Amino acid sequence: VTEFPVVGVVGGGQLARMMASPAVALGLRLRLLADSSTDGAAQVIPDTVVGDYRDLDDLRRFAKGCDVLTFDHEHVPTEHLRALESSGVQVRPGPDALMFAQDKGLMRERLGAIGAPVPAWLKVASASDVVRFAAEVGGFPVVLKATRGGYDGKGVWLVGDEHEAAEVLSHDQVPGFVVEELVRYERELCAMVARSPSGQAVAYPVVETVQRDGICHEVYAPAPGLHEDRAMTAQQVALRIAGELGVVGILAVELFDTAGGVLVNELAMRPHNSGHWTIEGAATSQFENHLRAVLDLPLGDPSAVAGTTVMVNLLGGDLDDLYPAYLHCMARDPQLKIHAYGKTVRPGRKIGHVTLVGRTTARSQHDPELVDLIDRGRHAVGYLRGDIDE
Ligand SMILES: Nc1ncnc2c1ncn2[C@@H]1O[C@H](COP(=O)(O)OP(=O)(O)OP(=O)(O)O)[C@@H](O)[C@H]1O
Ligand SMILES: [Mg+2]
Repeated sequence: VTEFPVVGVVGGGQLARMMASPAVALGLRLRLLADSSTDGAAQVIPDTVVGDYRDLDDLRRFAKGCDVLTFDHEHVPTEHLRALESSGVQVRPGPDALMFAQDKGLMRERLGAIGAPVPAWLKVASASDVVRFAAEVGGFPVVLKATRGGYDGKGVWLVGDEHEAAEVLSHDQVPGFVVEELVRYERELCAMVARSPSGQAVAYPVVETVQRDGICHEVYAPAPGLHEDRAMTAQQVALRIAGELGVVGILAVELFDTAGGVLVNELAMRPHNSGHWTIEGAATSQFENHLRAVLDLPLGDPSAVAGTTVMVNLLGGDLDDLYPAYLHCMARDPQLKIHAYGKTVRPGRKIGHVTLVGRTTARSQHDPELVDLIDRGRHAVGYLRGDIDE
């Protein structure tokens, strides 16, 4: 088995952890760069190097034993990726693509240049820039975003006036800001594709994502009642972005579904929370297709194997230990699939998710089977968190 390639994954979170299952099945070898040997992914990937992804020497030491390098997050400094690439390391996705997921200013610019539909936006340096922008888009509130380093809504602020804008802009750890119109969307969608270096690409069914406080809570796949034309448009936008930017691996395109059509919110170039449903709900999971793509293997079938799949995130609650709740949840609902990320529980932290699949494709949010799947998913998560005890 020594000829099987080694995929190096930078970052020890749940996304790296969930790559382990398909790697085991395919006989691929994973090598992990983690902050600590107790990280969720480090618990399941024996070949773990503890090091700092912001340190070029650590990255070089790590990359030595890898055939390709890929990521669990987008926070590796772009210049380090360029340095690795120029010394012959296969970085996938490469820095020329990844920088558009790392920097929301670059991303907005590039999406505009390729004609992808985006909200009105502007790079800003001062509160008066924000005021001028707000006047152009019909007034406050508007949305300020840190160009780099944000996740799960950290780095996103709804600002109601000049004073609030000035306060946000005074965060001195943030290297830059963009402002965006507050989009009055009907719902949020995500279009996910996988693309290989040879240019093969596949598109997953477009899903609906439900965010609260900037954090993904639920995903319904496919997006209930989404018109076929709009679903196809969303997939085409995602495929075009993947091709134009030269993305390798999974690309998740977060979208706003508005009365006038879809607008691109942001891009992620790695497996994404909106794609966890694919583990049970699709013929090939996002994690398997990410590995296939970074190795330039033919991609697997992305189509759904269930009528509807519902994923509910498990965010840290009152219970420190999930395991005692397994007995009740599994006994109550044999169709429930529980995923735990091996993380210590902190309030609001993503520590796992549950998935339920249904037979029929929901034509609307009120579809009875969909409502039942959502109820059961929420119940399980409520029980696992300790919010309910029956
Ligand atoms: N211009 C906007 N108008 C309305 N809502 C927005 C806008 N931008 C962001 N949001 C809301 O805030 C959420 C988080 O924003 P965004 O995806 O840009 O941030 P993030 O922290 O990078 O998220 P992620 O966890 O996906 O990386 C969005 O999913 C959406 O619910
Ligand atoms: Mg987002």
